[in-house]
Amino acid sequence: MKSPVTVGLLHPGQMGAAIGHELTKAGVRVLWCPAGRSEASVRRAEQAGLGAVPELGVLLGNSSVVISLCPPAAAEETADSVRETGFSGVFVEANAISPDRAEWIATDMIAQGARAVDGCVIGPPPGGSVDTHLYLAGDAEDAAVIAELFADTAVIPIPMEKPLGAASALKMAYGSYQKAACALAGVAQALGRIHGVDEHLTAEARRLAKSPLAAPEYLTGVAAKAWRWAPEMREVSRSLVAAGLPREMAEAAARVFDFWEQDKDDQELPLPQILDQLKRS
Ligand SMILES: NC(=O)c1ccc[n+]([C@@H]2O[C@H](COP(=O)([O-])OP(=O)(O)OC[C@H]3O[C@@H](n4cnc5c(N)ncnc54)[C@H](OP(=O)(O)O)[C@@H]3O)[C@@H](O)[C@H]2O)c1
Repeated sequence: MKSPVTVGLLHPGQMGAAIGHELTKAGVRVLWCPAGRSEASVRRAEQAGLGAVPELGVLLGNSSVVISLCPPAAAEETADSVRETGFSGVFVEANAISPDRAEWIATDMIAQGARAVDGCVIGPPPGGSVDTHLYLAGDAEDAAVIAELFADTAVIPIPMEKPLGAASALKMAYGSYQKAACALAGVAQALGRIHGVDEHLTAEARRLAKSPLAAPEYLTGVAAKAWRWAPEMREVSRSLVAAGLPREMAEAAARVFDFWEQDKDDQELPLPQILDQLKRS
């Protein structure tokens, strides 16, 4: 069934093109603007079935929804280019940016007469075996318009019923763990490799695999042991220095554990209390 909504997609990167493809498969018209973009974006857009419109103003004049999926550093610039045309539809700021930046962008957009939804994408580009979640925050009616577009696609819309900024906050909270974990894994594997123990390291990681992010109650035990783990992380730091590897994350982890030093051996503290202890006074 054809949707009456036309979506402007800025821009068809790895994620944007895959999301645009889901929409075109669902009968939604999706437009994009090749001006200034690379051959790779042109190729992705063609494969996704997006309609090319040479001028941004024409694209926006024909779109009632715009989705911004670009490098996070270019989020304001992209939003400004939309706002300056007098766009009055729904602008979805879906980039991995901090909640304050998302709020500023939305506030400017609304002040100019458009509507704004704060979004975030968690998961890989749609089309694979793992679901892609699109969280939506802000005005419930505007979020519902966007959720409706993605019904029956491989992008699962999740209206949060929370104010603008909430989706970006979720992305930042998730990314703070997931991306830092990748950096930590890189350093750990490099240390293991230098000492020739990387196969054992991988085997132990598989045997003991457990995400403390997925089981936050485990953090109470972490706080109770933090008095011992802080110095242990400083030993890790020494080992990294000796191996010529970056030590900053080990040092930073030790500093975080210092915040829980007062919780020594206390397994009974409520989780909210130990999380609040991480706030800098
Ligand atoms: N990829 C993922 O798995 C994933 C997962 C979750 C969330 N996200 C989020 O999705 C957003 C887009 O990520 P992506 O992986 O699709 O990035 P990407 O593959 O690097 O694509 C970015 C797109 O933006 C365009 N672009 C580059 N520089 C720009 C600029 N200065 N101003 C405006 N547009 C510019 C690129 O065009 P040209 O290169 O052709 O110039 C390309 O079309 C990010 O906010 C990211 O955090 C991505």
